[in-house]
Amino acid sequence: MNIGKIHITGSESNPFHTLSYQRIDESGRIEQANLPFIKVFVNYLPDGLDAIVACADLQGRWKDGSLIGCIVAEELEILSQMDELPAVEKTGIILCGDFYARENLDRRGGTGDVADVWRSFAKRFRWCIGVAGNHDIFSAMPDEKAFEKFKNEEGIHFLDASCIVKDQLKICGISGIIGNPRKVFRRTDVEFQKEMGNILQQSPDLLLLHDGPDFPEENLDGNQLIRESLISKNHLLLIRGHKHWDQLYIQFNEQIQVLNAHEKVLVLLKENI
Ligand SMILES: [Fe+2]
Repeated sequence: MNIGKIHITGSESNPFHTLSYQRIDESGRIEQANLPFIKVFVNYLPDGLDAIVACADLQGRWKDGSLIGCIVAEELEILSQMDELPAVEKTGIILCGDFYARENLDRRGGTGDVADVWRSFAKRFRWCIGVAGNHDIFSAMPDEKAFEKFKNEEGIHFLDASCIVKDQLKICGISGIIGNPRKVFRRTDVEFQKEMGNILQQSPDLLLLHDGPDFPEENLDGNQLIRESLISKNHLLLIRGHKHWDQLYIQFNEQIQVLNAHEKVLVLLKENI
């Protein structure tokens, strides 16, 4: 058992809650989708932290037009008030990128401002830590000053090739994906691998990425170069989004587990001992 390290021991097979929202399907049409809220059990959470909620790729809108991520934050708060989830002040939030959907849902893959989604979580919960996806921009980007101001807002902890310690957990993250570095939140393969090496040297407990490794053994989609650079001597839980997987998490190797939050709200809770 990895004392002091978060290790997934199981998950519920059915969502304990769903939220209906609109998004664009693969053929470009608006579809009504159900966002699943699923409980994932871990062996350990630090004192004072009763839950970690991880989500990614919430690229849709609520019926009133709000980005669905904003509504998820409200919904989690209500579930907490109803005692279905731990108290908000004992719940940390992990955001793994891609929280935008175009206002009119007129096409898939729109890029836009997700600052309000982050704020919606940050103002309610113990902390809010995350990385950007490839479709996210923040505040008045590319205005660097506006982006800096956003990153300094209370409760916001934006990671990009950086780490933070919260509740004795070292949480590190790299924003964006491998791609054309002239586009926002993209690095060349060489740069991304270099940052992976730097970050892993810092022995994170949690590593947040938007895309993550593929896993050919189980036919799970992702990035081969990230897989190849994912070498750790210490136990590490990597949380990712960007690609749909048929399973919530994998044992990547002896040290590393990977949890996929793509189009899901995953609530990490301490297993009942
Ligand atoms: Fe993405």
